[in-house]
Amino acid sequence: MIPDEVPAEVVAEVEALRTQIAHHNRLYHEQDAPEIPDADYDDLVRQLNELEALHPSLVTSDSPTQTVGGAPSVAFAPVEHRTPMMSLDNAMDRAELEAWGVRLERRLTDLEGDDRPPVSFVCELKIDGVAISITYEDGRLVRAATRGDGRVGEDVTANVATLAEVPERIEAPDAATVPDLFEVRGEVYMPVAVFDDLNERQEAAGLRRYVNPRNTAAGSLRQKDASITATRGLALWCYQLGAVEGGPSFGAHSESLRFIESLGLPVNPEITVVTGLDEVLDYCLRWQEHRHALDYEIDGVVVKVDDLARREALGFTSKAPRWAIAYKFPPEERTTRLRDIEVSIGRTGKATPFAILEPVFVGGSTVGMATLHNQIQVEAKDVRPGDTVIVRKAGDVIPEVVGPVLAERPDDLARWEFPSHCPRCGGLLTRLEGEGHHFCTNLDCPAQRTGRIAHFASRGAMDIEGLGEQRVQLFVELGLLDDIGDLYTLDFDRILELEGFGQTSVDNLRSAIDVSRERPLANLLVGLNIRHLGPTGARLLATELGHLDAIEAATVETMAAIDGIGPTIAESVHEFFASERNQAVVAKLREAGLNLEGPERPDVPATLDGLTIVVTGTLDGYTRDEAEEAITGRGGKSPGSVSKKTDAVVVGEGPGASKLTKATDLGVPILDQAGFEHLLATGEIRPTEGAG
Ligand code: IVH
Repeated sequence: MIPDEVPAEVVAEVEALRTQIAHHNRLYHEQDAPEIPDADYDDLVRQLNELEALHPSLVTSDSPTQTVGGAPSVAFAPVEHRTPMMSLDNAMDRAELEAWGVRLERRLTDLEGDDRPPVSFVCELKIDGVAISITYEDGRLVRAATRGDGRVGEDVTANVATLAEVPERIEAPDAATVPDLFEVRGEVYMPVAVFDDLNERQEAAGLRRYVNPRNTAAGSLRQKDASITATRGLALWCYQLGAVEGGPSFGAHSESLRFIESLGLPVNPEITVVTGLDEVLDYCLRWQEHRHALDYEIDGVVVKVDDLARREALGFTSKAPRWAIAYKFPPEERTTRLRDIEVSIGRTGKATPFAILEPVFVGGSTVGMATLHNQIQVEAKDVRPGDTVIVRKAGDVIPEVVGPVLAERPDDLARWEFPSHCPRCGGLLTRLEGEGHHFCTNLDCPAQRTGRIAHFASRGAMDIEGLGEQRVQLFVELGLLDDIGDLYTLDFDRILELEGFGQTSVDNLRSAIDVSRERPLANLLVGLNIRHLGPTGARLLATELGHLDAIEAATVETMAAIDGIGPTIAESVHEFFASERNQAVVAKLREAGLNLEGPERPDVPATLDGLTIVVTGTLDGYTRDEAEEAITGRGGKSPGSVSKKTDAVVVGEGPGASKLTKATDLGVPILDQAGFEHLLATGEIRPTEGAG
């Protein structure tokens, strides 16, 4: 065979990748302080893997593709593992998981013949923590070790002994079944709530925030002084039985997990045995969607062949078992270049800095912009245009810039300064005493005008279809609109002349604006853009005072006397109507014939007095607002989230996963549509059968 001729630039690239990976390995495994997100690291390893696959002559036994972890620290005594702690191969998407499954099925057919029984898989959550090996002898904890380089780990026995969930002594119901010696492997992690608490304390003490639960768990576990570990609230999930001397033997992994549990060690309750790849996929996709409903971080699912004899037959590659795979969720953190920081002006004049990013695929979508909130945040994060930054997009949360990768910051990169003037109108931006935000104080600023009018037209206010921010901005720039009052005398002939507007779209816009005249008073109040007044307050004012005239004329005291309207809202509403400028706008609306009447006072008995009912999903015959009104109109409360104080959760079509999970966790009764109607009629909570 002709020897593999590897081009010099490929050799150089392989070298460069190995150096980079070794550097990140040290930071991650030895210093618990990675610079880049896991997904970026995985990408480097992937590139190296691909080059090595193309050019096998370049593979060396010390290549990071052939080894695991980092060198054990000299600060802890070395512990040689009885059997190596291996890592897992990754499947980065559904196709890779399926390819693994197909290979596995084929291998098993080769080994066992065509009529072999189907494969049972154990699906486990991939806990994002630190791998640990714990050994018990004669029922006593004798050793705990980190993974280290897979062969030799660090002795962290004293640290692990401080974990509340790790028994010093095994107290199994049937002492005879406790092996003379056994080793369990698992993941030490920091629950998200503990992490958040810790960070609150750090912040209160003026100290730096910890970056994420995984690194904090690793740092907390590897403390020289174990009494510090004891304060960190670390927890454990065991996922594997290692060496065993004496005691029972097992034919399946799932049996050994049940055994670990019977010894009083924690095993994750979400572990499931399934048959066939379709069920594996279901499990993976379900947890990908619900990963944030858990109180600990997971970064994927580990799929393992259940049958131990089959595992034996399948064996290992140099680095990982063939009988298991880690299905990794799409990354929620990636690095990218921060091109610039700009400032946007909202409807209240609030100036919000935001990051312009080199587009990056993260958290399931491509992100090109991310808010930076205000000057305090930009300063705290110290991100500068030109930096490589970590971008995070988790679940439904809006994308955020976590911070810079300092190691990649070019020399002399200037700090970003908050602009002194409004980018839209050139007016001065001012930051009031005690406020985190800058404001453009020029009420005539076109950005503010646009924001106010677009808010008026938005779904939660007057719901004018076809009048989005872009059109409003255009009309403001052309001088067709100065304020919301002008909407009802809009010059449609001029609009018809504009590019992109045909007769149909102008007619549609005209009728959408016409229809909005009839919207409920509460929507109009929301649309007026009165500081502190949200939909709930607007509804209360509309119902209790009955007419815009009455609201306009009301004193602060009258409004503050309404249950649910605090002095801040009352004062803000009063101040709004006292302004001549606002009076002029309201006069135009009155002239245009808008509905200024509040709703009929509902004459319903207060059957839900003292009850807190949360609504999630869509119910037949009720909008979300109407369902909530039906509750508040009967004296109940209807907040947006589930807590210990919630008396029941009403679940319609397409409910929010987190509300449902939380309700189930807290044991809050769950009502379906029928249960809801019954509740409204009688005030009685009659849970849906089979739920809650
Ligand atoms: S099994 C040989 N199961 O993920 C099989 N690992 O690279 C060893 N992990 O080092 C691992 N949750 O630290 C397994 N349910 C789980 C896991 C899990 C998290 C970690 C573990 C391992 C890494 C895989």
